Amino acid sequence: MKILITGAAGMLASDLLPILSSEHDVVGLTRQQLDITDIASLRDTLKSLSPEVVVNCAAYTKVDLAETERQKAFMVNGIGAYNLSVICSELDIILCHISTDYVFDGQSQRAYTPFDPTRAVNFYGLTKLAGEKYIQWNMKRFYIVRTSWLYGVKGNNFVKTILRLAKEKDQLRVVSDQKGSPTWTVTLARGIKRIIESGYYGIHHVTDKTEGGISWYEFAREILKYASVDCEVIPIKTEEYPTPAQRPSYSVLDTFFTEVSTGFVPPDWKESLKNMLQALNQSSPSA
Ligand SMILES: NC(=O)c1ccc[n+]([C@@H]2O[C@H](COP(=O)([O-])OP(=O)(O)OC[C@H]3O[C@@H](n4cnc5c(N)ncnc54)[C@H](OP(=O)(O)O)[C@@H]3O)[C@@H](O)[C@H]2O)c1
Repeated sequence: MKILITGAAGMLASDLLPILSSEHDVVGLTRQQLDITDIASLRDTLKSLSPEVVVNCAAYTKVDLAETERQKAFMVNGIGAYNLSVICSELDIILCHISTDYVFDGQSQRAYTPFDPTRAVNFYGLTKLAGEKYIQWNMKRFYIVRTSWLYGVKGNNFVKTILRLAKEKDQLRVVSDQKGSPTWTVTLARGIKRIIESGYYGIHHVTDKTEGGISWYEFAREILKYASVDCEVIPIKTEEYPTPAQRPSYSVLDTFFTEVSTGFVPPDWKESLKNMLQALNQSSPSA
């Protein structure tokens, strides 16, 4: 398949590009090369490259800043997705769009399925929900792939922040009353590959496997354990660590339907974490 990846300089795209390239003809374009908020250049680029599938990794991902930078966040996550949905339909291109657990409010007593009602509790989540809706309203052939708590070798993420802070302090205070499923970008990239090869259009959930979710506190402890870093981790409540954006207290995504339809069974979260830390050790310091 000929595949175009948008937002190619981002954390997920950096792992997705080599994984898709193993079997497909892949072009990755950075924001400087293709801005998804510019509908005219989007049309020109898609017309000239004529991919079979576009994987949209372009996004505004600063969850707290989105509360104040509302227009910027909506332009990329809402209008950008709208533009892609319109142009892809026009040119008969399949769109695979990446979304988030933050489209849910966190009040569920069980893992969220792709069929559960959405209700975002922060502005970033609302802009991602807008993107999902535009695609569903405008397109017939699309994949929306929701994921959660993403980390990878490239870019800023929780794993790298904890490792950095643990070098600077002997004690870290980490929230223990928010639960979710951490996901290595490589797991998600492998899941996306399987999904776009499957032809099962619609909404998919891809995360690493946790039994009912883990907290940021448990995640931090495991990171330091595998990295053999000696630093005490103290569990705290969300109200002791106020942030501009509210987070859902429980945002585990149920991957069952994607497992059955595509055959993609994600690995256990601890396995992925170990592999990511190994990859991080082997990467250059600039990663
Ligand atoms: N990170 C997480 O924890 C998490 C959790 C759940 C879901 N997700 C979703 O997963 C996807 C990938 O996230 P990620 O962590 O890889 O994000 P990321 O590292 O922030 O990458 C996003 C990329 O999109 C680019 N971009 C921004 N505006 C653009 C535009 N108008 N046109 C084209 N490109 C643009 C950015 O470029 P610049 O840096 O130059 O702006 C950046 O390279 C996103 O859809 C995100 O919402 C992420």
